[in-house]
Order: sequence, then C-alpha cells, then structure tokens
Amino acid sequence: MSKIAIMGAMPEEIAPLLEKVENIKKIEYADNNYYEATYKGKELVIAYSKIGKVFSSLTASTLLEKFACDKLLFSGVAGAINPDLKIGDLIIADKLCQHDLDISIFGHDFGFVPEGAKFVESDERLRSIAKEVAKKNELILIEGTIATGDQFVASNERKAFISENFGADALEMEGASVAVVCDALNVPFFVLRAISDTANDDAGMDFDEFMVSSAKISAAFILEMVEKID
Ligand code: ADE
Repeated sequence: MSKIAIMGAMPEEIAPLLEKVENIKKIEYADNNYYEATYKGKELVIAYSKIGKVFSSLTASTLLEKFACDKLLFSGVAGAINPDLKIGDLIIADKLCQHDLDISIFGHDFGFVPEGAKFVESDERLRSIAKEVAKKNELILIEGTIATGDQFVASNERKAFISENFGADALEMEGASVAVVCDALNVPFFVLRAISDTANDDAGMDFDEFMVSSAKISAAFILEMVEKID
C-alpha cells in the first residue's frame, strides 16, 4: 500500500487536512514538523515547507528519503495567468518550470540549466484520478503549465514575461522545485492549486482575502483523491 506525502507551503494549506485526518503523530525534523496520519485506511505524511523553492525542496526530499513516501501530492494556492482561471478555480500541473532560473546570458532558454530540463512533467495516473474526482463533483479543473519562482508576482509585466517564455497558466513559489526532487528520485508526484489572485497589481490584497478559502478548496479535493489512490 502507498505511503502518500501531502505537502503545502504555508500552515493554512495543510490546516484543513489536519482537521480531517486521524491518528496524527507529530515528528520534528530538520527545523520542521511532519505529521504522520491516516485517512480512510491510507497512510499519510503531511507537512508544510515554508514558502519558496529551497524550503520546498528540503521538505519534499525529507518526505521521500526519511519518511519513505512513495507518492507526493502538493496542495495549495496560486496566482492565475490564464484568463479562464478565476479566484477559487482549480488547476493541476501537467508540467512545471522555474520562471526565475536565468542563465540566458550563456545562450540558454529561460528556466534551463545544463543537465536539467526546462519542464518537468507530473504523474499521469495521479492527474487522471484528479479528473475523475472533478467529474464526480462536477468541478471545472484546468490542466496546464505551472511556473514557479522565488517571488510573489504582483505585476502584469512579470505575468506577461512568464506567459510568453513558459506558456504558463498559473504561478506559485514551490511546485517546480518539488517536481525536480520527485523526478530525480523517481517518485510520482502531483501539484494542485486553487487560485487566490491573478498576480496583477491587486494580487497582494486578493491573496490576503482569498488564500484561506482557496487553500480549503484545494485541500478538500486532495483528500478525495487520497481515497482513490491504491
Ligand atoms: N501564490 C499565490 N499567488 C501568488 C502570486 N501572485 N505569486 C507567487 N505565488 C503565489
């Protein structure tokens, strides 16, 4: 049976999970808390990493290497680029990229470094489980590219750069770093985000207003997925 890692970046992204799971055991490790738990007979390890690519890489690596999780699901919020995505809507990443990784001065594409890849693809089976859950609940679920960077984007100019260079539909601050870790360790992973803002001038205000409600939408969806994972 699977041991499923569920991670978020912020406390608000995992709080709705911790409210629903059972047999919680807290373990402190590497300056962070990890919660072993069960849900409908499934074994879980839940953690929030803190914001950004470095912290999320550390947490993802720990979930896989120390806790021996064999699947990783990320739940959280994102800023929308695709105009079809409104606040509260869900997006799953088919692929992820790092929009702030830049050695273009040496002739490389934005987001590419030698021996890496511009895009990392998420697990198809986990994506198809997400589509089943969306269908059952009559929810709209957009599948697209998620761009990650160590910056909160609140500018139409930066959004346009990310859209033009990566064709991204949404942006956030952890997905691609988690993807790189899982891909390197051959562990199937999945990234789900509910939209909290549209990364424009109002993004800071919208994020403050909608982050908690969107994080709950994402977490509820993830728990339905857990039931369907073997
Ligand atoms: N997560 C949610 N909204 C975001 C934004 N505008 N920029 C970066 N990460 C986000």
